[in-house]
Amino acid sequence: MSPTLDTVRVSAERAYDVTVGHGATTLLPGLVDDCARVALLHPVELTDRAEALARAIDAEVLLLCAPPGERAKTAGFLADCWDALAGAGFTRSDAVVGFGGGATTDLAGFVAATWLRGVRYISVPTTLLAMVDAAVGGKTGINLDAGKNLVGAFWEPAAVLADLDLLATLPVDDLRGGLAEMIKHGFIADERTLEIFEADPSAMLDPSSDALAEAVTRSMRVKAGVVSGDLREATSHGTQVGRELLNYGHTLGHAIERRERFTWRHGYAVAVGVAYAALLARNLGHADDAFVERHRRILGSVGLPITYDAGAYEELRATMSLDKKTRGDALRFVLLDAVAAPFIAEAPPETVLRATYEELTR
Ligand SMILES: NC(=O)c1ccc[n+]([C@@H]2O[C@H](COP(=O)([O-])OP(=O)(O)OC[C@H]3O[C@@H](n4cnc5c(N)ncnc54)[C@H](O)[C@@H]3O)[C@@H](O)[C@H]2O)c1
Ligand SMILES: [Zn+2]
Repeated sequence: MSPTLDTVRVSAERAYDVTVGHGATTLLPGLVDDCARVALLHPVELTDRAEALARAIDAEVLLLCAPPGERAKTAGFLADCWDALAGAGFTRSDAVVGFGGGATTDLAGFVAATWLRGVRYISVPTTLLAMVDAAVGGKTGINLDAGKNLVGAFWEPAAVLADLDLLATLPVDDLRGGLAEMIKHGFIADERTLEIFEADPSAMLDPSSDALAEAVTRSMRVKAGVVSGDLREATSHGTQVGRELLNYGHTLGHAIERRERFTWRHGYAVAVGVAYAALLARNLGHADDAFVERHRRILGSVGLPITYDAGAYEELRATMSLDKKTRGDALRFVLLDAVAAPFIAEAPPETVLRATYEELTR
């Protein structure tokens, strides 16, 4: 039986297709059949699968094995990649493929963005987070000691292949981390996603389920829709909330990640941040109790955290002031009146912020 593949069209600065489904990587050879050379970046965990992909490609394939996790996103490894491309005589008509989690694809995209001022890039995300978040939106880059993602470029892929078969080996904590962003996408833009989660939470932790496949496609469509309107984060005007919408739950989430010294998965911190954002909206007179409860129920149903350390408020509040999404001194929260009804809360009263945190951690 031939696999069912869904397509999501992204039209930001250039148009490209995201293909989602079991077996999507079988399309890769056709996307590079006019190239003489292809650089395929992958993490060590995926070496066997990267070698198999390379064998299916007609061109000369340069396999570049990335250091694990965030260590792929360093100036040192970036320079190693440039040297390898120079050694192989890479030209403007060759292509770079990022085959891995978000760390690998962020780095690979930046290699493509910078080599000869930009060559064709194809993203083949292999974690749920990389599929529903990193693969769409054109953000590429590396970390510095001074902070994450400080150096980078917008460079949109020519195509994205999200092959759900690859998720079979992903640790369940990584799966959950991706689910947090999918739940976020549901609340900010897509009621149906929330209904899929509610119908059968256990199916969301099963990479072979049809429910997960549908939800991944919908989630990528949400991200595509948001970034198509505002790729470069020109951001919100008046009541219009742009790409900043994707920051739902991230104001507190980023502060928690930092407090945990990035040992928590991003999605876990976002889950707590999303639960906080729902409470904050209600406490500011927007959403109702049922909306808050729906957040807690859906996040909890897939094993994501919805509370945090009661004694951490002062530290988190100080970190939130440093968040890059704040403008000047005022804290900005993306909040919701209801599903898909966002607004920006600028400088909410400190008493409400604190009381909401106490409620979250009670
Ligand atoms: N560009 C964007 O818009 C964007 C959005 C969200 C996150 N990100 C970035 O993504 C990164 C996090 O991505 P991530 O959560 O995918 O982490 P990751 O890339 O570090 O992957 C997590 C671990 O899983 C391994 N792995 C990958 N695929 C696997 C598979 N199929 N089976 C088994 N193991 C596998 C990886 O090698 C790694 O060790 C961060 O650097 C973050 O900044 C970027
Ligand atoms: Zn996120």
